[in-house]
Amino acid sequence: MPFNKKLNLILFNLRGEIIMRKKIIAGNWKMNKTPKEAVELINTLKGSIDTDNVEVVVCPSIVCLSAVVEATKGTNIGVGAQNMHFEANGAFTGETSASMLAELGVKYVVLGHSERRQYFAETDVTVNQKTIKALEAGLVPIVCVGETLEDREQNVTIELVSLQTKIALKDVSAEDAKKVVIAYEPVWAIGTGKTATSEQAEEVCKAIREVLADVYGQETADVIRIQYGGSVNGANANELFNMGNIDGGLVGGASLTEGFADIVNYK
Ligand code: PGA
Repeated sequence: MPFNKKLNLILFNLRGEIIMRKKIIAGNWKMNKTPKEAVELINTLKGSIDTDNVEVVVCPSIVCLSAVVEATKGTNIGVGAQNMHFEANGAFTGETSASMLAELGVKYVVLGHSERRQYFAETDVTVNQKTIKALEAGLVPIVCVGETLEDREQNVTIELVSLQTKIALKDVSAEDAKKVVIAYEPVWAIGTGKTATSEQAEEVCKAIREVLADVYGQETADVIRIQYGGSVNGANANELFNMGNIDGGLVGGASLTEGFADIVNYK
Protein backbone atom coordinates (compact mmCIF):
# COMPACT_ATOMS: atom_id res chain seq x y z
CA MET A 1 0.00 0.00 0.00
CA PRO A 2 1.50 3.38 -0.94
CA PHE A 3 2.14 5.69 1.98
CA ASN A 4 -0.84 7.93 2.34
CA LYS A 5 -0.17 11.05 4.31
CA LYS A 6 -3.86 11.54 5.01
CA LEU A 7 -3.66 8.57 7.32
CA ASN A 8 -1.62 10.86 9.47
CA LEU A 9 0.03 10.42 11.89
CA ILE A 10 1.75 7.10 12.02
CA LEU A 11 3.25 6.62 15.47
CA PHE A 12 4.20 3.66 17.59
CA ASN A 13 2.95 3.19 21.11
CA LEU A 14 4.93 1.63 23.96
CA ARG A 15 4.05 -1.88 22.80
CA GLY A 16 5.34 -1.12 19.32
CA GLU A 17 1.82 -1.06 17.86
CA ILE A 18 1.03 1.37 15.07
CA ILE A 19 -1.26 4.25 15.89
CA MET A 20 -3.01 6.06 13.05
CA ARG A 21 -5.18 9.09 13.26
CA LYS A 22 -7.46 9.27 10.27
CA LYS A 23 -8.21 12.82 9.26
CA ILE A 24 -11.75 13.93 9.99
CA ILE A 25 -13.31 16.84 8.11
CA ALA A 26 -16.76 17.99 9.16
CA GLY A 27 -19.04 20.56 7.56
CA ASN A 28 -21.01 22.60 10.05
CA TRP A 29 -23.90 23.95 8.04
CA LYS A 30 -25.24 26.03 10.96
CA MET A 31 -28.72 27.48 10.31
CA ASN A 32 -28.54 27.07 6.56
CA LYS A 33 -30.33 24.87 4.02
CA THR A 34 -33.78 23.40 3.93
CA PRO A 35 -34.08 19.59 3.70
CA LYS A 36 -34.39 19.83 -0.08
CA GLU A 37 -31.29 22.02 -0.39
CA ALA A 38 -29.41 19.76 1.99
CA VAL A 39 -30.12 16.67 -0.11
CA GLU A 40 -29.10 18.54 -3.27
CA LEU A 41 -25.70 19.34 -1.79
CA ILE A 42 -25.20 15.75 -0.64
CA ASN A 43 -25.98 14.50 -4.13
CA THR A 44 -23.41 16.91 -5.58
CA LEU A 45 -20.75 15.98 -3.05
CA LYS A 46 -21.27 12.24 -3.41
CA GLY A 47 -19.47 12.12 -6.72
CA SER A 48 -16.71 14.55 -5.90
CA ILE A 49 -15.32 13.83 -2.45
CA ASP A 50 -12.70 11.37 -1.27
CA THR A 51 -14.26 9.41 1.55
CA ASP A 52 -11.67 6.63 1.51
CA ASN A 53 -8.80 8.52 3.04
CA VAL A 54 -10.73 11.08 5.06
CA GLU A 55 -13.62 10.62 7.48
CA VAL A 56 -16.21 13.05 6.14
CA VAL A 57 -19.09 14.37 8.22
CA VAL A 58 -21.87 16.81 7.45
CA CYS A 59 -23.81 18.54 10.21
CA PRO A 60 -27.06 19.99 8.88
CA SER A 61 -29.85 21.57 10.88
CA ILE A 62 -31.95 19.23 12.96
CA VAL A 63 -34.91 19.31 10.54
CA CYS A 64 -32.62 18.09 7.74
CA LEU A 65 -31.08 15.18 9.63
CA SER A 66 -33.56 12.51 8.50
CA ALA A 67 -33.34 13.50 4.85
CA VAL A 68 -29.55 13.70 4.97
CA VAL A 69 -29.20 10.33 6.70
CA GLU A 70 -31.32 8.90 3.91
CA ALA A 71 -29.38 10.71 1.16
CA THR A 72 -26.01 9.51 2.49
CA LYS A 73 -27.02 5.83 2.76
CA GLY A 74 -24.54 3.63 0.94
CA THR A 75 -21.84 6.33 1.13
CA ASN A 76 -19.09 6.94 3.67
CA ILE A 77 -20.42 10.38 4.53
CA GLY A 78 -21.31 10.50 8.21
CA VAL A 79 -24.05 12.69 9.58
CA GLY A 80 -23.79 14.84 12.69
CA ALA A 81 -26.09 17.11 14.66
CA GLN A 82 -25.05 20.60 15.73
CA ASN A 83 -26.22 20.30 19.33
CA MET A 84 -28.22 18.13 21.73
CA HIS A 85 -29.51 18.25 25.30
CA PHE A 86 -27.76 16.49 28.16
CA GLU A 87 -30.89 14.96 29.66
CA ALA A 88 -32.31 11.70 28.33
CA ASN A 89 -35.83 13.13 28.05
CA GLY A 90 -38.26 15.39 29.88
CA ALA A 91 -39.82 18.83 29.86
CA PHE A 92 -37.21 20.66 27.76
CA THR A 93 -39.22 22.31 25.02
CA GLY A 94 -37.39 22.58 21.73
CA GLU A 95 -34.58 20.25 22.71
CA THR A 96 -33.34 16.93 21.33
CA SER A 97 -31.72 14.04 23.19
CA ALA A 98 -28.74 11.91 22.24
CA SER A 99 -30.83 8.77 21.85
CA MET A 100 -33.24 10.55 19.49
CA LEU A 101 -30.29 11.46 17.28
CA ALA A 102 -28.79 7.99 17.46
CA GLU A 103 -32.06 6.32 16.51
CA LEU A 104 -32.22 8.50 13.42
CA GLY A 105 -28.85 7.23 12.21
CA VAL A 106 -26.88 10.29 13.31
CA LYS A 107 -23.33 9.34 14.31
CA TYR A 108 -21.71 12.61 15.45
CA VAL A 109 -22.71 15.66 17.42
CA VAL A 110 -21.00 19.05 17.61
CA LEU A 111 -20.89 20.21 21.22
CA GLY A 112 -19.99 23.58 22.71
CA HIS A 113 -19.62 25.45 19.46
CA SER A 114 -18.67 29.05 20.24
CA GLU A 115 -21.97 30.27 18.78
CA ARG A 116 -23.79 28.02 21.27
CA ARG A 117 -21.59 29.34 24.05
CA GLN A 118 -22.09 32.95 22.98
CA TYR A 119 -25.80 33.04 22.05
CA PHE A 120 -27.29 30.12 23.99
CA ALA A 121 -25.45 30.23 27.30
CA GLU A 122 -23.61 26.97 26.76
CA THR A 123 -20.91 26.52 29.42
CA ASP A 124 -17.96 24.19 29.92
CA VAL A 125 -20.08 22.31 32.45
CA THR A 126 -23.01 21.70 30.07
CA VAL A 127 -20.53 20.71 27.36
CA ASN A 128 -19.18 18.09 29.77
CA GLN A 129 -22.68 16.81 30.58
CA LYS A 130 -23.48 16.60 26.88
CA THR A 131 -20.21 14.86 26.06
CA ILE A 132 -20.96 12.14 28.60
CA LYS A 133 -24.52 11.65 27.31
CA ALA A 134 -23.41 11.61 23.68
CA LEU A 135 -20.86 8.89 24.40
CA GLU A 136 -23.45 6.84 26.30
CA ALA A 137 -25.67 6.96 23.21
CA GLY A 138 -22.81 5.86 20.94
CA LEU A 139 -22.40 9.26 19.27
CA VAL A 140 -19.00 10.76 18.49
CA PRO A 141 -18.83 14.14 20.22
CA ILE A 142 -17.02 16.89 18.32
CA VAL A 143 -16.16 19.12 21.25
CA CYS A 144 -15.36 22.73 20.36
CA VAL A 145 -12.90 24.83 22.30
CA GLY A 146 -11.29 28.13 21.45
CA GLU A 147 -10.35 31.60 22.61
CA THR A 148 -11.72 35.02 21.75
CA LEU A 149 -9.51 37.75 20.32
CA GLU A 150 -9.44 39.34 23.77
CA ASP A 151 -8.19 36.09 25.33
CA ARG A 152 -5.48 35.84 22.70
CA GLU A 153 -4.40 39.42 23.29
CA GLN A 154 -4.28 38.72 27.02
CA ASN A 155 -1.98 35.79 26.29
CA VAL A 156 -4.22 33.22 27.97
CA THR A 157 -5.11 31.11 24.92
CA ILE A 158 -3.33 27.93 25.94
CA GLU A 159 -4.53 28.10 29.55
CA LEU A 160 -8.10 28.76 28.52
CA VAL A 161 -8.27 26.10 25.83
CA SER A 162 -6.60 23.60 28.16
CA LEU A 163 -9.21 24.28 30.81
CA GLN A 164 -12.09 24.02 28.33
CA THR A 165 -10.70 20.66 27.17
CA LYS A 166 -10.23 19.32 30.69
CA ILE A 167 -13.70 20.32 31.84
CA ALA A 168 -15.35 18.94 28.70
CA LEU A 169 -13.76 15.55 29.39
CA LYS A 170 -14.25 15.43 33.15
CA ASP A 171 -15.36 11.91 34.20
CA VAL A 172 -14.86 10.59 30.66
CA SER A 173 -12.79 7.39 30.70
CA ALA A 174 -9.68 7.00 28.58
CA GLU A 175 -11.48 4.43 26.41
CA ASP A 176 -14.30 6.89 25.74
CA ALA A 177 -11.94 9.83 25.32
CA LYS A 178 -10.37 8.03 22.36
CA LYS A 179 -13.67 8.35 20.52
CA VAL A 180 -13.97 12.09 21.11
CA VAL A 181 -12.91 14.64 18.50
CA ILE A 182 -11.72 18.01 19.77
CA ALA A 183 -12.26 20.99 17.47
CA TYR A 184 -9.96 23.90 18.18
CA GLU A 185 -11.77 26.95 16.83
CA PRO A 186 -10.41 30.38 17.69
CA VAL A 187 -13.54 32.52 17.97
CA TRP A 188 -11.86 35.40 16.11
CA ALA A 189 -11.36 33.16 13.08
CA ILE A 190 -14.93 31.89 12.78
CA GLY A 191 -16.83 33.33 9.86
CA THR A 192 -14.42 36.26 9.66
CA GLY A 193 -12.20 35.11 6.82
CA LYS A 194 -9.29 35.45 9.27
CA THR A 195 -7.71 32.03 9.48
CA ALA A 196 -5.23 31.24 12.21
CA THR A 197 -1.83 30.63 10.62
CA SER A 198 -0.91 26.99 10.45
CA GLU A 199 1.71 27.66 13.16
CA GLN A 200 -0.83 29.31 15.47
CA ALA A 201 -3.29 26.46 14.94
CA GLU A 202 -0.61 23.81 15.40
CA GLU A 203 0.65 25.44 18.59
CA VAL A 204 -2.75 25.23 20.25
CA CYS A 205 -3.61 21.77 18.89
CA LYS A 206 -0.28 20.52 20.22
CA ALA A 207 -1.02 22.08 23.60
CA ILE A 208 -4.41 20.35 23.63
CA ARG A 209 -2.69 17.03 22.97
CA GLU A 210 -0.35 17.71 25.87
CA VAL A 211 -3.33 18.31 28.14
CA LEU A 212 -4.87 15.06 26.93
CA ALA A 213 -1.57 13.31 27.67
CA ASP A 214 -1.51 14.79 31.19
CA VAL A 215 -5.00 13.53 31.86
CA TYR A 216 -5.01 10.19 30.04
CA GLY A 217 -1.40 9.37 29.19
CA GLN A 218 0.42 9.76 25.89
CA GLU A 219 -0.97 6.61 24.32
CA THR A 220 -4.54 7.83 24.59
CA ALA A 221 -3.62 11.38 23.61
CA ASP A 222 -1.97 10.08 20.46
CA VAL A 223 -5.17 8.57 19.12
CA ILE A 224 -7.54 11.46 19.87
CA ARG A 225 -8.24 13.56 16.81
CA ILE A 226 -7.96 17.32 17.04
CA GLN A 227 -9.47 19.46 14.30
CA TYR A 228 -8.86 23.07 13.46
CA GLY A 229 -11.83 25.29 12.58
CA GLY A 230 -12.17 28.94 11.59
CA SER A 231 -12.32 30.18 7.99
CA VAL A 232 -10.95 26.95 6.54
CA ASN A 233 -11.24 26.94 2.75
CA GLY A 234 -9.93 25.12 -0.29
CA ALA A 235 -6.86 27.34 -0.39
CA ASN A 236 -5.66 26.94 3.20
CA ALA A 237 -6.82 23.38 4.01
CA ASN A 238 -3.70 21.81 2.61
CA GLU A 239 -1.28 23.66 4.84
CA LEU A 240 -3.41 23.39 7.97
CA PHE A 241 -4.23 19.70 7.68
CA ASN A 242 -0.63 18.74 7.08
CA MET A 243 0.48 20.04 10.46
CA GLY A 244 1.50 17.28 12.86
CA ASN A 245 -1.22 17.81 15.45
CA ILE A 246 -4.08 18.91 13.20
CA ASP A 247 -6.20 15.94 12.25
CA GLY A 248 -8.69 17.65 9.97
CA GLY A 249 -11.12 20.49 10.26
CA LEU A 250 -14.52 21.78 11.26
CA VAL A 251 -15.68 23.91 8.37
CA GLY A 252 -18.53 26.42 8.39
CA GLY A 253 -19.10 28.75 5.43
CA ALA A 254 -16.96 26.82 2.98
CA SER A 255 -18.89 23.60 3.64
CA LEU A 256 -22.12 25.01 2.20
CA THR A 257 -21.26 24.57 -1.44
CA GLU A 258 -19.67 22.00 -3.71
CA GLY A 259 -16.38 23.76 -2.90
CA PHE A 260 -16.37 21.62 0.26
CA ALA A 261 -14.92 18.93 -2.00
CA ASP A 262 -11.74 20.99 -2.44
CA ILE A 263 -11.27 20.93 1.34
CA VAL A 264 -11.99 17.22 1.74
CA ASN A 265 -9.74 16.40 -1.22
CA TYR A 266 -6.85 18.51 0.09
CA LYS A 267 -3.37 17.31 -0.75
P1 PGA B 1 -16.23 29.11 9.38
O1 PGA B 1 -16.95 28.42 10.62
O2 PGA B 1 -15.51 28.03 8.63
O3 PGA B 1 -17.34 29.75 8.59
O4 PGA B 1 -15.28 30.11 9.93
C1 PGA B 1 -16.31 27.41 11.34
C2 PGA B 1 -17.22 26.92 12.44
O5 PGA B 1 -17.96 27.72 13.00
O6 PGA B 1 -17.23 25.73 12.78
